Amino acid sequence: WPAFSDDIDAILALKRERNAVILAHNYQTPEIFHCVADIVGDSLALARRAMEVDADVIVLAGVHFMAETAKLLNPQKTVLIPDLGAGCSLADSITAEDIRLLRQRYPGVPIVTYVNTSAEVKAESDICCTSGNAKAVVESLGVARVIMLPDEYLAQNIAAQTDVEIIAWQGHCEVHERFTPADIRQLREDHPGVSVLAHPECPPEVVAEADFSGSTAAMSDYVGREKPARVVLMTECSMSDNVAVAHPEVDFIRPCDLCPHMKRITLANIRAALEQNRHLVTIDPQVADRARRAVERMLAI
Ligand code: 13P
Ligand code: SF4
Repeated sequence: WPAFSDDIDAILALKRERNAVILAHNYQTPEIFHCVADIVGDSLALARRAMEVDADVIVLAGVHFMAETAKLLNPQKTVLIPDLGAGCSLADSITAEDIRLLRQRYPGVPIVTYVNTSAEVKAESDICCTSGNAKAVVESLGVARVIMLPDEYLAQNIAAQTDVEIIAWQGHCEVHERFTPADIRQLREDHPGVSVLAHPECPPEVVAEADFSGSTAAMSDYVGREKPARVVLMTECSMSDNVAVAHPEVDFIRPCDLCPHMKRITLANIRAALEQNRHLVTIDPQVADRARRAVERMLAI
């Protein structure tokens, strides 16, 4: 990619100079995902791999909650996020005070918190989950009822797979909430035989009409395993671009939706992050200790 080669060369040199690694989420653009990232994956994989990083500096090419999770799990490292505005509509949908009020309203009911939340919210929670392990986390608690927040649709999609009663919050992902069952029906009409894969942040009626639902890593694995002739990934646009590179024989059908937060990360601001040591991710130590417990409890499952 000649248009990107200046930034790519500079980033590769800066990584060596600063002993840095780049962790990139599956929604990052292909030039980040394929040309400069050292570790790629879904939220769960990025959390696990962040813990094992030996380098001095971690650049998180993803959104802010992912960078916070990396800092929680490897607090001695310098963790940088190239754009502090890379947020998440789910993380913005709930505060630590909301959780304290929920505890008063449902005393004794464990609180399972999606990793797409701030460290302050994690700190008030019993355990975290990701889209890749939510069912296992809920069932690991051995109780009849849990609160699962903030993603209402993820909670409803997990409730459909378990006997555990789930009390949900009303947060939504601004990207996945836009897909509809009518989109799927139209796709099936236009592209006979297409396999439809939906992220569990999609509304339950979308997941019900899909052929498979799973985390971004699970969708990517599905394509590798099942090798569908035609596939549509009902998720963020860069997923198809990134997965398609390894599967030239598979016909990837779009539409897709862009996450404006993920798209704030660019080669230019990754380069600037390494050159100028910005933006440092910091977490109040008192919050960090409690938030880390919730994340580590999840990782122990
Ligand atoms: P995954 O954990 O499935 O990668 O999802 C993260 C995310 O932000 C989805 O919108
Ligand atoms: Fe948040 Fe949705 Fe963007 Fe994922 S895709 S980071 S859940 S807004």
